[in-house]
Amino acid sequence: MDNVETLRSEILDAVAGSSDLKALEDIRIAELGKKGRVSGLMKTLGKMEPEERKAAGQALNVLKSEIASAIDGRKGALEIEALNAQLINERIDVSLPVRPEDQGRIHPISQTIDEVVAIFGEMGFTVAEGPDIEEDWYNFSALNIPPEHPARQEHDTFYLPNEKEGHRMVLRTHTSPVQIRTMQNQKPPIRIIVPGRTYRCDYDATHSPMFHQVEGLVIDKKTHMGHLKGCLIDFCRAFFDMDDLPVKFRPSYFPFTEPSAEVDIGCTREGGEFKIGHGDDWLEILGSGMVNPQVLVNCGIDPEEYQGFAFGMGIERIAMLKYGIPDLRTFFESDLRWLRHYGFQSLQTPSMVGGLD
Ligand code: PHE
Repeated sequence: MDNVETLRSEILDAVAGSSDLKALEDIRIAELGKKGRVSGLMKTLGKMEPEERKAAGQALNVLKSEIASAIDGRKGALEIEALNAQLINERIDVSLPVRPEDQGRIHPISQTIDEVVAIFGEMGFTVAEGPDIEEDWYNFSALNIPPEHPARQEHDTFYLPNEKEGHRMVLRTHTSPVQIRTMQNQKPPIRIIVPGRTYRCDYDATHSPMFHQVEGLVIDKKTHMGHLKGCLIDFCRAFFDMDDLPVKFRPSYFPFTEPSAEVDIGCTREGGEFKIGHGDDWLEILGSGMVNPQVLVNCGIDPEEYQGFAFGMGIERIAMLKYGIPDLRTFFESDLRWLRHYGFQSLQTPSMVGGLD
């Protein structure tokens, strides 16, 4: 037992020099564990003479508790060290500028729909939707376009091969069938806009077989042409962000509105350069009119009591004009370079446009 002194200083040195909790635990096991060195010495006590055993036993017990408390003390110190290191490493520097992230872009179609919805939303319109695969009756007949009507030919319709319950199914050629669905399901007053996909068999720089429209429908007592004009003039000026944008209503024809008007905005085309605003030229941007009384009757609404107006426009067309996009087909080519160029950052929600620049 002479070596207790050496053992003590060796172990206490090791404890003091241990650099982490794992090393400290290894020391505890190696010295105080069941198979540890101190425990080994304890086992030798049995073979000693009583006098010797008493002294050695006392010395070993003192050694044991000295080591145990040294380990405890070191453990506390190491825990504090580890905590401090963690606090330093995981510190968040709130003054650091945000790292630029590789963000996605909002497609100009989504952006334009959001802008249109925001403008009409402020006027009290709510959004309605309908199916892309539509019954012939909703897409045409209910809108006063009977089977033999020449307007059907103009629509370049995609017909589906199978009939559903006697109805011929089509890919809707415009968003107008949602007017019918809404009037069937909702009592007036009605004030909806309908953004959505539409389909026509056509493909060139200004046409794509799938494109988007926004429909508008207002039905109420005493609604008149003045409401239609005021609403659409306000919309054009808000959308193109020009308070004095010239807006003209030109007589036109749609089977589902009477009278009908096409809406033109002022523009200039000089030396191949095109600009929206003042000038001596006009550009058509949407179709509109007072809902034909026959359409109201088809939906079970009494035209003596209710009148209304409707309008429809192509999303691609107004997006191309507003954002200077020359070819409609590029909207659907999914070219990332195009999207990076014409897309919008997600922070520019419609209500914040203008507030941010
Ligand atoms: N549905 C028409 C079209 O696609 C547009 C329109 C809608 C015209 C509503 C008048 C009223 O051409």
